[in-house]
Amino acid sequence: MKAAAMKIEPTKTSASSQDESAKILLCGLSHRYRHRKLNTLSDIDLAIPHGQVLAVVGRSGCGKSTLLQLIAGLLRPSSGEVRIDGLPVSGPSPRRNLIFQQPSLYPWMNVAQNVGFGLKFVPSPTPPRRRIEEMLQLVGLEQHAEDDVRMLSGGQQQRVALARSLATAPEVLLLDEPFSALDAMTRAELQAQVRGIIDALGMTAVLVTHDLDEALLMGDRIVVMDSHPGRVREAVELPAGHRRDRAHVGFQRLRHQLEQTFVDAARPFPATASPYTYQTSRELN
Ligand SMILES: Nc1ncnc2c1ncn2[C@@H]1O[C@H](COP(=O)(O)OP(=O)(O)OP(=O)(O)O)[C@@H](O)[C@H]1O
Ligand SMILES: [Mg+2]
Repeated sequence: MKAAAMKIEPTKTSASSQDESAKILLCGLSHRYRHRKLNTLSDIDLAIPHGQVLAVVGRSGCGKSTLLQLIAGLLRPSSGEVRIDGLPVSGPSPRRNLIFQQPSLYPWMNVAQNVGFGLKFVPSPTPPRRRIEEMLQLVGLEQHAEDDVRMLSGGQQQRVALARSLATAPEVLLLDEPFSALDAMTRAELQAQVRGIIDALGMTAVLVTHDLDEALLMGDRIVVMDSHPGRVREAVELPAGHRRDRAHVGFQRLRHQLEQTFVDAARPFPATASPYTYQTSRELN
């Protein structure tokens, strides 16, 4: 597709019975923390198809990490539910791995031991030693298997965390601002590498980020969230053939439109419109 023809299209976000085949289905999902008067998240409806990378952007405190923890099964919804492959999520599972902003490695284990940690609990598709080698190769750390993780750079530590998460062959990868502590070069390298790994392994992913470029570089669809309570303000599908290249003119145009959407999300939610009618009636170009 020519760059000039590309535009961001708002998409339907409400879940319906047709979305039963979605890999991840969020139905009327709300969450209120104990001792809080108001919901942190309210009425989130989203269907994420198999193999899609959904990028979630929104202001600090709008509930992005809470959303990931609900999908991971680390938190229970106050109402509504999360379904994976049609089954309700009732707790954590090695089939869904959450990667945090800080790598949180085990400092008393070396690189290979960290990568193999999850394999103690989950049957490995290949013998554990072989699997660890495969994962280290995948993230380009095969020369560092015996290293003390405390001696690694931030980017290398994040790669170890990624290899540890991938070792158990999760179907769903949840990434909570995984590159925000890294320098621009390392970040760009890992963005491309992780997107490549997600595609190669056929995973479905939800990426939380503050960085609109990152959302465009890694996502297939981008959800912009509102705050107080956190809910979906806009969901935009990236055009087929979207070039994941910052220098490309089409990328710049999409970046500009997304920025505008982000700014609009700071305005009050229209009281008369349901999220669904608001999202679908909005013209972005
Ligand atoms: N354990 C908790 N108990 C009570 N309130 C919490 C708890 N964790 C988060 N919150 C509140 O829920 C809201 C959303 O928090 P969350 O961490 O999900 O936001 P976020 O969008 O990830 O923010 P950031 O972009 O800064 O990481 C915030 O107001 C926060 O104070
Ligand atoms: Mg967060």
